This record gives sequence, C-alpha cells and structure tokens, in this order.
Amino acid sequence: MKQVTRDNRAWFQEWANEYDNTLGKVKRHHALLDLVVQLSGIKSNDQVLDIGCGTGLLSLKFLNKTDCTITAIDSSARMLKIFKEKIEKCNLAAKIHCAQKSAEDMDFTSNQFDIIAATVALHHVKLKEPVIQNIYDYLRDGGRFVIGEIDMDTTGKPDDPQRLVRILNYLTKEFALAMKEGGIPAFERMYDNGKKHILNDGEYCIGFSQWAELCRNAGFKNVEVSPVKEFEWFKVLVATK
Ligand SMILES: C[S@@+](CC[C@H](N)C(=O)[O-])C[C@H]1O[C@@H](n2cnc3c(N)ncnc32)[C@H](O)[C@@H]1O
Repeated sequence: MKQVTRDNRAWFQEWANEYDNTLGKVKRHHALLDLVVQLSGIKSNDQVLDIGCGTGLLSLKFLNKTDCTITAIDSSARMLKIFKEKIEKCNLAAKIHCAQKSAEDMDFTSNQFDIIAATVALHHVKLKEPVIQNIYDYLRDGGRFVIGEIDMDTTGKPDDPQRLVRILNYLTKEFALAMKEGGIPAFERMYDNGKKHILNDGEYCIGFSQWAELCRNAGFKNVEVSPVKEFEWFKVLVATK
C-alpha cells in the first residue's frame, strides 16, 4: 500500500476557523489541557514554550493559572491569526509572543525555558527524536517537558487488521464524545482526523511507553505518565531535565 505523505499545514489552515467550535468544545480536550497545566507545576515568572499552540487554548490556560511569559509557535498561519486576535482582545501582548514556526525548525537557545509543553501537536512530527533532543536542550536544569496526547500506537503496516482494530478502539471513544459534545461538525472533523491517523497522513501517533523511551533517550531523568481522569485513553507525560 502506498503511504500518503501530504503536508499537514493545508489541513490545519482549513480547520482553523472551526477549531474552537469543534475540538475546542469537547470536554475531554479541556480536561487534557487542565491536567497539563496542573502537572507542569508552573510558577509565577516561568518562561513557557507552547509547541503547536493552535488557537491558544493551552497558553491561555497557563496564563489563567499564573503570571508567566509564553512563547507560542505553530506551523499554521491561520491558527495563529485566531490566537493573535484573542491576545489583542485580552490585552496580553506583553505576556505572549507568537511565531509561525514548525517544531522541526525550532532554533531557540539552550537553557531558555522552565516549561515546554505540547498538546495534541507533537504526534504530527514524523521524526520525533531530534525534536525531543532540542526540547531537552532548550530547557533549564530542573525544567519540565509536558506532553498531552492520545495514547495510541499507529505504527506498523497500514493494512494490518490488528493495527486497524487497535486504532479504531481509541477513535470510537473520540467519535462518540465529538458527536455528543460538539455535534455533527465536531464529529465530521474527528472522523476525517481518524482517517488521517489510519493512513498516517500527517498524524504519527505513538503510545506513551514510546514517548517515555524517547524522553529517557534524550537525557530526561524523571519521566511520569498520568491518565486524564474519565478519559484514560488520553495521557499526560511529564519529563524533568
Ligand atoms: C490539534 S491542534 C492542537 C492545538 C493546541 N495545542 C490545543 O491543544 O488546542 C494541532 C496543532 O499543531 C499544529 N502543527 C501541526 N504540525 C506542526 C508542526 N510540525 N510544528 C508545529 N505545529 C504543528 C497545527 O497547525 C495545529 O494548530
């Protein structure tokens, strides 16, 4: 079977206008973001990097929790446009700096951040190892890397029936939530997303044992994984430098 390798930027440009009204309406997504903020242990004056910030849902939750400074990057100009409108509306320009940049092209300096976080973003990166190595480098000693993701291993042959069942078991829960909480538009987006996961078309999910191994290989000392309460197929990993 031929692997699909389309650039995922176009997809996110299209999704941007609906994002807050589809995934942004699903309670599970907010439960994930809240757990990321809680487990990050963020303190006042921390410097935070939000990778794949989208429309800023996570960054705004960090700022709601405490007075920190955020650098937020995303590869989609349209997602950032929506986030920038929120920043302007809430008068937060002194607290959040946004830039259009892909995780693969980050060029920050060593020991720059106290917290580096990414929610449902890093699974879009195909080659994760160098990105996680850079994240380790950009964190100060004692700094924390926090990932919130679906715990779903989509590696393997795309047409392997066992792989399909494994992926569909997870996706079914997401489809049901999307339909219940975000209605037909959210379901349609999630369903399209599901196909992309099955085809590894811009979505390259791995399980949390694989994320943990990548972090340990990059040099992180303590790596802890916690499930999101009531939505256990999503998890949060905290890795400390
Ligand atoms: C599902 S959204 C998550 C947005 C936000 N983190 C949240 O939790 O609401 C995924 C985001 O990752 C961005 N993205 C996808 N691939 C990326 C990459 N390689 N580098 C940076 N951002 C990326 C997309 O443009 C999109 O805004």
